[in-house]
Amino acid sequence: MTFDILLKNGTLPDGARADIAIAGGRIAAVDPLIDAEAGETIDISGNLVSPPFVDPHFHMDATLSYGLPRINASGTLLEGIALWGELKPLLTEEAVVERALAYCDWAASMGLLAIRSHVDTSDEHAMTGVRGLLAVRDRVKDYITLQIVAFPQDGWLRSPTARDCTLRALDMGVDVVGGIPHFERTMADGRRSVTELCEIAAERGLMVDMHCDETDDPMSRHVEQLAYETQRLGLQGRVAGSHLTSMHSMDNYYVSKLLPLMAEAQLAAIPNPLINITLQGRHDTYPKRRGLTRVPEMLKHGIRVGFGQDCVLDPWYSLGTADMLDVAFMGLHVAQMTSPADMARCFDMVTSESAAILGLEGYGLARGCKADLVVLDAANPVEAIRLRARRLFVVAGGRVIARGRADVSALDLPDRPREVARRFKTP
Ligand code: FE2
Repeated sequence: MTFDILLKNGTLPDGARADIAIAGGRIAAVDPLIDAEAGETIDISGNLVSPPFVDPHFHMDATLSYGLPRINASGTLLEGIALWGELKPLLTEEAVVERALAYCDWAASMGLLAIRSHVDTSDEHAMTGVRGLLAVRDRVKDYITLQIVAFPQDGWLRSPTARDCTLRALDMGVDVVGGIPHFERTMADGRRSVTELCEIAAERGLMVDMHCDETDDPMSRHVEQLAYETQRLGLQGRVAGSHLTSMHSMDNYYVSKLLPLMAEAQLAAIPNPLINITLQGRHDTYPKRRGLTRVPEMLKHGIRVGFGQDCVLDPWYSLGTADMLDVAFMGLHVAQMTSPADMARCFDMVTSESAAILGLEGYGLARGCKADLVVLDAANPVEAIRLRARRLFVVAGGRVIARGRADVSALDLPDRPREVARRFKTP
């Protein structure tokens, strides 16, 4: 049999050595020794071959807008939201698409081939982003799976236009139902928003991913309501709580009740270590809280956790490169996950665990899976995190789309002029 691509001498994330054969956009064989003809045979020389990176939490409507119209002076979440409110009326669909495609170039060159992006659905201005990201989802579908979450940033109940715009966005084909209960006017409204949004998801057969309790207030307990509605509506395994930073500050006794409830509801958690280490604790003096949710404790309770990037060069975060190894590196440090097993788990949280949260079809390196993968200049997942290892090859849809360099100049994508991505440099 002749394959399209044959990767020789790879090391899989579990340490096994294997050759990987690709044909027709799928993985055709994984075996310690495959002796066959192929259109291209690549000797990986023992380097790590992984399924692609997956970002379970991003804001692609805002990315690469750093400094527009001004910079977040306080560095807080709330000023970021206010700043985004100033930028929204200035958005054009063309600019949103251009920035998002440039980000997708960065992502593809890093082997980041699946992204769940929230898109603001609070008002008419935000709908520019919805139209833009739906167009981008279609433009990049051959090499990036873009899953879009309808996110009423200004509050499902607090914003008078959020209901109409969010429902319209879902009608237009946005994939997932979002929310932001801690930003509603009262705790009661926050709970009500969780209930109403979960009911909409249940009616439409959609997944849920809410910004939940992204605050240092230990009394922000909307995750409890999210777990409750997940069970009541039979949404187990299809709901995620993003951020969950209030859990960092909660009373231990209450958390000892909450974690089993989250596990029972099969609620997934999506912490965003780069962003919350910078946004949270801004009202503290010292000791200053770190603002990451309780990741090791969640894992001990069998709760699925995926690390998200959240922001790159936008009103909330002035850095970022689309490198999920940066995310894993920061998550490992802040969560103090330093045992060999825990460090390897951090790699899973930016690959397979996040893929499971997104419900990706055909993800992995087994026979029959989609031929999407990344080859890293590292011997194993822990070394990949330590080095934030260079990408040697990125394969998407059975085609080598980048080789040799972890930047956009390595990309080989149809219809993507390289100059576009180069225009977006860190200010
Ligand atoms: Fe977010």
